[in-house]
Amino acid sequence: MNIRPRRLRGSEIMRKMVRETRIDKSSLIYPIFVKEGTGIKEEIATMPGQYRYSVDRLPKALEELLDAGVNKVMFFGIPDVKDEVGSQAYASDGIVQKALEKAKAEFQGDMYLITDVCMCEYTSHGHCGVLCGHEVENDKTLELLAKTALSHVQAGADMVAPSDMMDGRVRAIRSLLDRNGHKEIPIMSYAVKYASAFYGPFRDAAGSAPSFGDRKSYQMDFHNRREGLKEALLDVEEGADILMVKPAMSYLDMVREVKDRTQIPVAAYSVSGEYAMVKAGAKLGYIEEDRIICEMAASAYRAGTDIYLTYFAKEIARFIEEGR
Ligand code: PBG
Ligand code: ZN
Repeated sequence: MNIRPRRLRGSEIMRKMVRETRIDKSSLIYPIFVKEGTGIKEEIATMPGQYRYSVDRLPKALEELLDAGVNKVMFFGIPDVKDEVGSQAYASDGIVQKALEKAKAEFQGDMYLITDVCMCEYTSHGHCGVLCGHEVENDKTLELLAKTALSHVQAGADMVAPSDMMDGRVRAIRSLLDRNGHKEIPIMSYAVKYASAFYGPFRDAAGSAPSFGDRKSYQMDFHNRREGLKEALLDVEEGADILMVKPAMSYLDMVREVKDRTQIPVAAYSVSGEYAMVKAGAKLGYIEEDRIICEMAASAYRAGTDIYLTYFAKEIARFIEEGR
């Protein structure tokens, strides 16, 4: 035998030298929930270790992230009042807008601020757009999404991330941002987003479950791969700067597909259900939490992820620091 693969696995020092996937803290984004009120830091029941913060409690949470070496966040807003057209999504004193202003004032450029752009947290019916009867009306929704994105940028967002899955939203947002002098603001599109049961804990956290029906008329059928690539290529044409695949764990084939077939950075979002499963399994003693977190992260990067959105960002940053 002259070829012995085990030669390269004989010691820790060797294994680390030939490691093919290396994770950098600079590629981590931490999703965070902000809500109206003061003095609030409440744990999310289905996501132990994750919290909803009022704006006044936000700086401390961001400070802890910066200390851990994570300097990118994505804001999700939980408004006090919801209505048919989700007007709090684009109100200049909406919850995300206030969080952005606070974070900008306290951290200047040190924390990179990304916003999720969608309607579902803000509409009384919980759908990701405005309704016409029981259908989500695509083209009317585009206007509101673009307005929302613009108001985020005006409040201090460094990047916007539309997650609604309406047709043409990247173009609509790009066009309104440009017309308002924000040509430099990048769009990270939730391009390959599936209708997934993995979002369950998030909808609890944000109170955004649809009051009737489901999201299958806009989010993608998880049996489909070519459709995912079509969505990705469309968003590139419409001007997306970064493409996201979501969820991550069960969709790494799509991460690889998008990575190989497009020329822009690829993000993978390890969603609430992935987080919740790890937490629950670890609590029951069925799995080793730390090792599972590392393995999930490495597999996403191995599949081609450039950017990783995860509720475990702080833990991963620590594991990187510890050389795990
Ligand atoms: C809003 C949005 C959702 C998530 C990100 N943006 C929920 C959904 O589409 O129902 C899910 C994030 C997670 O589960 O962690 N459309
Ligand atoms: Zn939505």
